[in-house]
Amino acid sequence: MGEAIETLATETLAIATLAVDIGGSGIKVMVLDHQGNPLSERDRIDTPAVPTPEAVLEILQQLAAGKTFDRVSVGFPGVVRRGVTETAANLHPDWIGFDLAGALIQQLGKPVRVANDADIQGLGAVAGEGVELVITLGTGIGAAMFLNGRLIPNLELGHHPFRKGETYEEQLGRAALDEIGKRRWNNRLERAVDLLERIFNYDSLYLGGGNTKKIDFVLPVNVKIVPNVTGLLGGIALWKD
Ligand code: BGC
Repeated sequence: MGEAIETLATETLAIATLAVDIGGSGIKVMVLDHQGNPLSERDRIDTPAVPTPEAVLEILQQLAAGKTFDRVSVGFPGVVRRGVTETAANLHPDWIGFDLAGALIQQLGKPVRVANDADIQGLGAVAGEGVELVITLGTGIGAAMFLNGRLIPNLELGHHPFRKGETYEEQLGRAALDEIGKRRWNNRLERAVDLLERIFNYDSLYLGGGNTKKIDFVLPVNVKIVPNVTGLLGGIALWKD
């Protein structure tokens, strides 16, 4: 019996997860051990110009080739329910109603779990205490909310009104940053942080995503920037049940 438990524990420790982050500009993968330590380099290929499910699956095939892993976690930039992608504002309409988990199980022959990208980023970032909000600043604007470490999935704050009749994503997404430049984008972000604090009264806010490197104002003490790799590390937490 003791021996059996030991073997089981050693097997769990040896489990390798292929963590995938499908983004509006790049698709990233890395193999992680059970604690989220990297077992491979972080590889990235540009998101295809026409990012249909077929085109993205083809890239995932390339990124997975030559890597050894037992299971797959995928962060997807839209609403995900039971492995099916329900929205994809910055990808392609063909994703609506697409069984991404099912397609990847067939393609890679391993168990697959898929969740919203901001939810995964949050799982990798939060401390598990009180109300924690996560906002990701990339091509789109992602959001995730936690109470004592428990996720409320698919919080689509990015598509809700922020100011001047525009959504958070229209005002703060990558297209807006390119259009208005860093100084105005920072001013907008500072207003957004102030507004979000008044709406959600969070204990901590985490800002993630590639555009956090453009932030140049002093953040309140309860707001932290999390590194981009968190978007992959959270993939381990998807299997904690
Ligand atoms: C999507 C979200 C996603 C975010 C960041 C938004 O356009 O609606 O689901 O988390 O972009 O990728």
